[in-house]
Amino acid sequence: MISIRNLDVWYRSDAGEVHAVRGIDIEIKKGEFYTLLGPSGCGKTTTLRALAGLERPEGGEIRIADQVVYAEKTNTNIPPYDRELGMVFQSYAIWPHMNVFENVAFPLRELPKKMPEKQVKELVLRALDLVQLHGLENRAAPYLSGGQQQRLALARAIVNGPRVLLLDEPLSNLDAKLREETRRELRALVKRLGITTVFVTHDQLEALTMSDRVAVMKDGVIAQEGTPKEIYHAPVNRFVAEFIGTANFLEGTVAAVDVGEGLGTVTCGEGLLSSVLPEGVTPGERVSVVVRPEDIELRGKECASEPGMNVMPARVQDLVFIGESLDCTLNAWGQKLRFRAHPSSELCVDDMVNICLPPSRCRAVMGHSEVVVKEAAEKQ
Ligand SMILES: Nc1ncnc2c1ncn2[C@@H]1O[C@H](COP(=O)(O)OP(=O)(O)O)[C@@H](O)[C@H]1O
Ligand SMILES: [Mg+2]
Repeated sequence: MISIRNLDVWYRSDAGEVHAVRGIDIEIKKGEFYTLLGPSGCGKTTTLRALAGLERPEGGEIRIADQVVYAEKTNTNIPPYDRELGMVFQSYAIWPHMNVFENVAFPLRELPKKMPEKQVKELVLRALDLVQLHGLENRAAPYLSGGQQQRLALARAIVNGPRVLLLDEPLSNLDAKLREETRRELRALVKRLGITTVFVTHDQLEALTMSDRVAVMKDGVIAQEGTPKEIYHAPVNRFVAEFIGTANFLEGTVAAVDVGEGLGTVTCGEGLLSSVLPEGVTPGERVSVVVRPEDIELRGKECASEPGMNVMPARVQDLVFIGESLDCTLNAWGQKLRFRAHPSSELCVDDMVNICLPPSRCRAVMGHSEVVVKEAAEKQ
């Protein structure tokens, strides 16, 4: 449905140049909910605006439903209004001097061929119904709550039956509770309408809960693309592991690359860890083993003499009760590990425990953290 090839976008001004999008490739299927996730400034909005025709790229190609809307080679650049897209901006861009009805009717009134008023009314009321704003047609737009303004912006984006919906951080102005409800509603709505959706967010939870697929962006490139489960369980580098969820990193060097069952071993400080390794890695290379807090298993409170493969003694260094869990910081092999115990747990600071890091839940990525590398250099 959407195909982006080798897209390059620059901003040039007197203040200098910014290479905002650096040769990215994206393929989005019809009806898919696709999310661009990444920290502020990584190029999400720029990518979306290039797709909408609001920024002119300097290289690559964009196709929407087999129509080439931008191509550097043929000097093609279809204007925004001919791309048949609906867009919700981060600021909503609602017209304050218009009422709800007129805001939603606006894109229909702007069409090159005048639409009969009866049809305008029908489409506007249907869109307002879909976003549950019926009955508010005559309300002045500024007198809507934040949640209602977000829905109004959405109604305006879908009123003309676009083939693609582009959403730029549409939930970031809502309070936490409303944001959670809206996440579900928004996904359900676009799925019901079957519209291909490109969603932009810096919020990993939004990306994980709403998307069919996610592209994690960093500095104008895609660091990893996959389903929410793929990017969470199998991050390809430290950045993705750190950006999504909470991750522990055990720094080490590869000892053996194939010890069966798709696993290798990594020397970490005092011990040897069995772990899934990245493709193509060789013994001696520096890696960080990623383990999620919820994957760590507690093996009895007494410091038994059990330690073996991926089982190690750990000291409880810090505890924070957060209601749904007891958040622990453990110290194992001289490295800090976050662990979540059941809230009823009676763990105390300075307790010695044995923990197990299940090998298939340990996944090494290339490289060390800069902090650890620096500390190691200072020691030498
Ligand atoms: N109009 C602009 N002029 C100059 N630089 C810009 C402009 N818009 C964005 N940028 C720069 O381009 C990069 C990507 O920005 P953007 O796509 O808005 O990031 P995101 O939406 O991921 O926060 C940033 O470094 C940003 O400062
Ligand atoms: Mg942005």
